[in-house]
Amino acid sequence: MTEASPYHLRSMRRGDLDQVLAIEQMSYLSPWSRLSFEREVSDNPAANYVVVEQDERVCGYAGMWVLIDEAHVTNIAVHPDHRRRGLGQAMLCELARRAARQGVHSLTLEVRPTNFAAQSLYTKLGFVARGRRKRYYSDTGEDAIIMWLDDARALAAGEVPHEQRSS
Ligand SMILES: CC(C)(COP(=O)(O)OP(=O)(O)OC[C@H]1O[C@@H](n2cnc3c(N)ncnc32)[C@H](O)[C@@H]1OP(=O)(O)O)[C@@H](O)C(=O)NCCC(=O)NCCS
Repeated sequence: MTEASPYHLRSMRRGDLDQVLAIEQMSYLSPWSRLSFEREVSDNPAANYVVVEQDERVCGYAGMWVLIDEAHVTNIAVHPDHRRRGLGQAMLCELARRAARQGVHSLTLEVRPTNFAAQSLYTKLGFVARGRRKRYYSDTGEDAIIMWLDDARALAAGEVPHEQRSS
């Protein structure tokens, strides 16, 4: 049996967007458009996006906006074939490291009340639910649960198995 190649974590590039969009469409009820991702990667100075790849195939991605004193996680998805292997966790650790390098240790995000997988991931990493945004998701009319991680330093220091990083 041949051993799987290691996963590799790096910054998202424009050339990743075909694969990113394919995963986005498999993962979300209301996927972001190509233009939204292009703006994030090329035009938004607050945006910081990563991908995890294996054998040059994108397996997942995540991103955030680093604002004055908080980082807002905007998007995270892992290809269904690569879920439950620690990639979501690895990418959030990397976002925390990148935010910390800019002096920001507080992370926030929104999640659907029905998205138990994502809530489990965030809770495992220390996020706590603190409030709701009423009818935040226009496709279903669901509220958003707002989650916070006040001190992301432990997460930033986190060691994740199978992870290989580059800038
Ligand atoms: C949420 C998502 C990014 C998780 O990615 P992942 O790489 O599978 O997550 P990980 O393997 O890093 O999981 C880490 C921990 O999160 C929790 N978790 C992740 N998926 C879970 C699931 N389906 N059920 C229960 N717990 C889950 C577990 O505690 C897990 O640790 P364990 O495997 O040791 O039990 C992935 O399910 C996904 O892409 N979903 C669709 C897009 C989405 O909903 N994004 C979030 C929007 S807010």
